[in-house]
Amino acid sequence: MWEPESLKYNLNTAMSPDPLVPGRFRVPEDLILQPPEGGWTVPPDWSAVFGRKGPLAVEIGPGKGIFLARIAAAHPELDFLAIELRRQRCILCCRKILAARLGNARLIEGPAESLVRPLFAPGSVRIWYVNFPDPWPKRKQKKHRIVQPPFVRDLAQTTEPGGIAYLATDDADYAGQILEVFEADGSWENAHGPGRWSDTGGEHSRTTHEEKFLKWGRSIRYFQFVRRA
Ligand SMILES: C[S@@+](CC[C@H](N)C(=O)[O-])C[C@H]1O[C@@H](n2cnc3c(N)ncnc32)[C@H](O)[C@@H]1O
Repeated sequence: MWEPESLKYNLNTAMSPDPLVPGRFRVPEDLILQPPEGGWTVPPDWSAVFGRKGPLAVEIGPGKGIFLARIAAAHPELDFLAIELRRQRCILCCRKILAARLGNARLIEGPAESLVRPLFAPGSVRIWYVNFPDPWPKRKQKKHRIVQPPFVRDLAQTTEPGGIAYLATDDADYAGQILEVFEADGSWENAHGPGRWSDTGGEHSRTTHEEKFLKWGRSIRYFQFVRRA
C-alpha cells in the first residue's frame, strides 16, 4: 500500500511546515476549524476554506488519522473534512496531515451526529467514510451507536445524487444495524446487493482499528451505499 514518505517521521513535532504557504510553519491546531460565535448554523463556504471548489469527502471518527492522511494523499482532487469527537485525536490527525504536506484536509471537533446538517448544504458531499464506529456492544449501549435513522437521513440529505457512504465494522451486530438502517431509509442503494456487504475493503482500507482486527483474524464487513438520484 502506498504510504506518504513523510508519514514515517515528524509525527511528534509541535510545529510543521505549512503545506500551503512555503516558508511558514504552523501548529497542528491550525487545521482544526473553529466554529463561529454561537456555533455552526449555516454551512461554511468550503471553497474559501480550501481555496478552491473541489468535491467534498467527509470522514467521521478518523481516530489517529492514518486513513485520513492516506486517502487525502491518494485523492488530491477531493477536499477532505474529518469530524472527530476528541480533541487529542483531532491533533493527532492534524500532525499527520502536516507531516504528509497535505493541503486538502481539515478537522472539525465535535459530535458528528449534530454537525452533519449545519455543516453541509443539501447535496454537497460526494463521499462519506465511517470506519469502525464505536461499537457500543452491550444491549443497553446500542442507543449510543452513531448509525441511527436520523443520522442516516442527514447523510442522505447532504449527499449529492450518486454520492457514496462507505462504512466498515468488525462487530456483527452493528453490521446488522448498518444494513437495517441504510436499507430502511429509502435514499440509499446497497452497492453489494440487498442484505450484503464485502469482505474486502480495497482502497477504503487500512485504518488503525482495521490493522489490529486483521492481525487478530477477525472478520470485517465493508459497506457501500449509493445515494439514489
Ligand atoms: C473505534 S474508533 C475508530 C477510529 C478509526 N476510524 C479507525 O478505524 O481506526 C472511533 C472513533 O470515532 C470517534 N467518535 C466517536 N463518537 C463520535 C462522534 N459522535 N462524532 C465524531 N467522532 C466520534 C472516537 O473518538 C474515535 O476516534
